[in-house]
Amino acid sequence: MDVFHKVGETARKHSPLEEAIRKLPIPVSSVFLGKDGKIRAAGFRETGMTLVSRHERIAEVFPRTLSKSKNVILEAVAKDESERVKGKRVGVLFSGGPAAGGHNVLAGIAAALGDGNTLLGIRKGPKGLIKGDLFEINKESIKSILNTGGFDFLGTDRTKIKSPEQFEQVKQTAVKNRLDGLIVIGGDDSNTNAAFIAEYFEAEGIGCSVIGIPKTIDGDLAAGAYLPISFGFDTASKVFSELVGNLSQDAASAVKYYHFVKLMGRTASKITLEVALQTKPAVALISEEIAEKEMSLDSVVDYVARIITLRRMRGINNGVVLVPEGLVEFIPEMRRLIDELNKALAEYESDIKALPTVGDKREFLLQRLTAASAHFMASLPVDIQEMLILDRDDHGNVKVSQIETEKLLIEKIHDRISEMKLNPDRYFGTGEGKIEATPEQVEDFKKVSLSTQSHFLGYEGRSSKPTKFDAAFTLQLGLAAGSLVLAGKTGYMAAITDFHKGGRVLGLPLAGLITAETRKGKEEFVIEKSLVELGSASFKTFAQNRDEWAKGDFFSSPGAIQYWGPTSNQIPIIVALEQDYPDFDKFDLGAEKQVEID
Ligand code: FBP
Repeated sequence: MDVFHKVGETARKHSPLEEAIRKLPIPVSSVFLGKDGKIRAAGFRETGMTLVSRHERIAEVFPRTLSKSKNVILEAVAKDESERVKGKRVGVLFSGGPAAGGHNVLAGIAAALGDGNTLLGIRKGPKGLIKGDLFEINKESIKSILNTGGFDFLGTDRTKIKSPEQFEQVKQTAVKNRLDGLIVIGGDDSNTNAAFIAEYFEAEGIGCSVIGIPKTIDGDLAAGAYLPISFGFDTASKVFSELVGNLSQDAASAVKYYHFVKLMGRTASKITLEVALQTKPAVALISEEIAEKEMSLDSVVDYVARIITLRRMRGINNGVVLVPEGLVEFIPEMRRLIDELNKALAEYESDIKALPTVGDKREFLLQRLTAASAHFMASLPVDIQEMLILDRDDHGNVKVSQIETEKLLIEKIHDRISEMKLNPDRYFGTGEGKIEATPEQVEDFKKVSLSTQSHFLGYEGRSSKPTKFDAAFTLQLGLAAGSLVLAGKTGYMAAITDFHKGGRVLGLPLAGLITAETRKGKEEFVIEKSLVELGSASFKTFAQNRDEWAKGDFFSSPGAIQYWGPTSNQIPIIVALEQDYPDFDKFDLGAEKQVEID
């Protein structure tokens, strides 16, 4: 083939790499292998492990699913060929932001269902479920999406199913399409939705199992040793680590820039922690620590400016600063402001809607805040103030991906460094909080200017091709969810653990993961987010090393996502540390199999 034609041939996801990875064998846990070595559904048995209810009213909210599951965790076991279930119809949808490996979940479900059952794709997420927009997925399309990134095969959206009418429409979709199973691939909010749909179907006598799959690059949908992480986290962290490694290399080469990199992760700083452990930056801020220490915006600025100054005194005027996306919501004064804004936005919803400009809305809201919050809000750049008051998403969350925290920090740090230059006596010398420096060092500090670049890494990591780990993890999750449906279970989330020794496949009762939270000023039952714990092995490992990394250019550059070679089999470092695995070099989720959907 000549070059002209070759260029044309590689369009529509037919690059040489995509062609090669589509054919890669994927590890499969032994519970999903028949005696003939073929991939098939597993059965489930009750374990002796129970989830402890996280709220006293859970039994009232989920009376039916909870009395069935008794909060007992299920474990997959290999099944006999004679027990093969046939004639079931299963719908599947993506919900929320994309995460790498979603297409392999579909492949896993299809493989579990095998020949005798039907898999129906639901277009455009929960919205498509409400509308009843379904189509049959065939084997050929599964082959074409294996190991590819994104959610484009089905599409996705962030609709929250909350009104009685919406629940009724979902019921109609299940009934009209004769669904025996509904699989929701989503984050904490979407799995919360799955728990409520499962309960509703039971109450309405609809014989349709509802199963959730833990998806989100943020890693905040996790359940300790039963589910160390959600899918997509590994890929996003590795893509970001490669890019941060490259930026660190550039910073050390050009020796003139500080790169402020905001990393996705709506709430939890898990991605930032993983990327910090992979790349060893000059500074990595961890939101959960900032909240715990009740650091003000001013003290965060002080912390970063101090490291920049100390590095400068060592002759280094470049580096990388990692900023977690959700930081603003963890700074106590900002948290208070957002809570007050949420309340006011709920209370004066119609008055605010009627105001013509964002500026008018801002002025209106400023009058309704406490003096402290109004003062703090007014101290922020106007564009940040406006982003804080913009509409929430369907789940009541502030759209933090749109708040330019990295730019806010850059602006404040520039101000602080200028102030330090103007009033060196206030910042240098001896005494509490002062930086020890000779007069020459202070003079030198005054001469050098701070040059910054800002970056936001998010979308490029969540729709990347999955890493080998996520490719295997997601295939098992799909196999687990398909098997749970065939076993007639409802109100469970598929989970995989023990990534270092063959993989353990579990079903976690969704109701057992739910607690109460205040959203848009109201109490709501939702799955609790899993955040960075300051007592965890991963945070401690970071905290013990960060002062050293701050002193010089000690970065490491882990490189591109690998399908072959020394890093291709890695487990996320935070998982290996927190689950006390001996190493993070090699995951083991079973023997590699060519995935054939029969
Ligand atoms: P999910 O929780 O739905 O997986 O989404 C995660 C995420 O990627 C966050 O990290 C980010 O804040 C958000 O989506 C941004 O979403 P969008 O810009 O698509 O609304």
